[in-house]
Amino acid sequence: MHKEVSRYTLTAALPYANGPVHIGHLAGVYVPADIYARYLRSKGKEVLFVCGSDEHGVPITIRARKEGVSPQEIVDKYHKIIKNAFADFGISFDIYSRTSSPVHADTAAAFFKTLYDKGEFIEMETEQYYDEQAGQFLADRYITGTCPVCGHEGAYGDQCEACGSSLSPTELKNPKSALSGSAPVLRKTKHWYLPLDRYEPWLRQWIVEGHKDDWKANVYGQCKSWIDQGLQPRAVTRDLDWGVPVPLPGAEGKVLYVWFDAPIGYISATKEWAAARQTAWQPWWQDEKTSLIHFIGKDNIVFHCIIFPSMLKQHDDFILPDNVPANEFLNLEGDKISTSRNWAVWLHEYLEEFPGKQDVLRYVLCANAPETKDNDFTWKDFQARNNNELVAILGNFVNRAVVLTHKYFDGRVPQRSALYDIDEELIGELAKAPDYIAESLDKFRFREALARYLELARAGNKYLADTEPWKLIKDDKERVGTILNLALQVVANLAILGEPFLPFTARKIFAMLKLENQGWQAGGSIDLLAGDQEINKAELLFEKIEDSVVEKQLEKLQNTKMENQAQQAAPAAQKAEISYDDFAKLDMRIGTIVAAEAVPKSKKLLKLTIDTGIDQRTVLSGIAQLFSPEELPGKQVTVLVNLAPRKMMGMVSQGMVLMVEDADGSLRMLVPEQPVQNGSTIS
Ligand code: MF3
Ligand code: ZN
Repeated sequence: MHKEVSRYTLTAALPYANGPVHIGHLAGVYVPADIYARYLRSKGKEVLFVCGSDEHGVPITIRARKEGVSPQEIVDKYHKIIKNAFADFGISFDIYSRTSSPVHADTAAAFFKTLYDKGEFIEMETEQYYDEQAGQFLADRYITGTCPVCGHEGAYGDQCEACGSSLSPTELKNPKSALSGSAPVLRKTKHWYLPLDRYEPWLRQWIVEGHKDDWKANVYGQCKSWIDQGLQPRAVTRDLDWGVPVPLPGAEGKVLYVWFDAPIGYISATKEWAAARQTAWQPWWQDEKTSLIHFIGKDNIVFHCIIFPSMLKQHDDFILPDNVPANEFLNLEGDKISTSRNWAVWLHEYLEEFPGKQDVLRYVLCANAPETKDNDFTWKDFQARNNNELVAILGNFVNRAVVLTHKYFDGRVPQRSALYDIDEELIGELAKAPDYIAESLDKFRFREALARYLELARAGNKYLADTEPWKLIKDDKERVGTILNLALQVVANLAILGEPFLPFTARKIFAMLKLENQGWQAGGSIDLLAGDQEINKAELLFEKIEDSVVEKQLEKLQNTKMENQAQQAAPAAQKAEISYDDFAKLDMRIGTIVAAEAVPKSKKLLKLTIDTGIDQRTVLSGIAQLFSPEELPGKQVTVLVNLAPRKMMGMVSQGMVLMVEDADGSLRMLVPEQPVQNGSTIS
């Protein structure tokens, strides 16, 4: 499907304004989106790159309640932090707006009203939990209770974080309101639903058939599986006091669901941008010649590929996204990035510790972007890429070309004379570089594009190493002039073609060369710099990162891990009450370990043979890190003997050795103060 495109509307997922942004955000969404926006602009395309803060939704109200402030105060705080962080990293939004703005409230309400007037929604009354003490309906997250699947007591109304089951609030046992702590009651409430099931034939045609070849496999696959599983009507309103009010009579206390209003935020941001320039917003959203592209992370796929397009389609006068190049997730040092566990590299913190090194992070995150699968950010890799690629290849090449020009030619671009094979080779490589890199960018393969870009710097480096102008200078200054002229032309190209990836570095190179960026189309040329043109002194682009710097970062993460563990080990709240009969069901006895051996392939388990007074039996126990098998025989232990047998590592464990866990997580055996007869019971 090839269409004539005269402008691009690029959107980047609106981050929730309930916390700062971290490297995962940057790698998954904002760096690729920014590279693409800069690339298109460099090609002379008309581009509008929009983003803003997503300021509605339940988590923001929960956070506000916890901190004892209003939701508006929360979003004001984080909107500012996030906006600044993006600006600091050179993310070149044309506008960074926010969904608590008046223009957004109007736009979202009007959008809803249009669909409502067209009869697009189903109205349904359902029963939902209501907190009589707090006087309000409870969002799923506001209800906790016992998980029906695993028995975990702090499960949420939408999910149990212990076993991962997704739940609905009425499935929880002993539900409790997070607002007042009271037991909620079911009450009838009316909501409006988008009948996604009705759009299935169209979605199938548009995505499953229409975008099989041009959408990324991870995106296409997720969409197809959603559609194949059968779509259900989705509620687009909520009983909540924070959000865009539902613009209907009799809908007091109801707001638009955050996932209904947030993507409309792209449109409101466009309106805000257009109004400030006194131009029309409509071409960016309603002209068939506009290409709409959504940059998002994988958790947003269904909303951007199925729900929002359905809304746009039913509204009837909007274009649909041409592509949704969603990325997978970035992990940090082998663990999932987590705001609540503070397991992240925060952008504002990075900048405090690595001032001026925005491009290093942009580079590493792009080189290692989770494009086709989840990926890991490690500080070692950060250091290696900086030292071995940015410093040793790109920085080194640019520096040598500029320094030698000053040394031998007084800071003036030397003239070229006769060309040899080795020159023609470099010229050939240079000539194909723009298309070669563009080919990857056009397919949203940013890692590949960056690798191709680096190839050009590598070729330049090799050219200098092979021609050795520092040796020729004594006998053949003219030849050296040719070599440095070509090297400098490559440097100029590296600035042009590198600008989308490394905008801060590109700016420095342009300044060194006293050159303006003439755009992507000028790339490939060996006449960007005229002979005899003056250039500036070399400026340092990248510097080596020492081991100690990286170790400091690793230490910081290690501390976070320890703090988290200490917190987890904090005395837990008392468990739910039980009867004496419950307790009496436990058959706990003292036994003596008669033999102990390691369990092959297990770091934690030991296989114990225990004389329980009743019998000798096998118990597998997770104490391998505390004791070596030799020191165990003869020790007494407490055993829960009537625990159902469990199969582990191909063996059957008949019982459990009782252990005491200290606040710091360390384990000890629970034993009587003096040796007793095997089989003695505990009561
Ligand atoms: N705030 C959402 C998230 O961080 C993304 C919203 S994207 C939008 O997952 F389209 F809804 F704006
Ligand atoms: Zn569970």
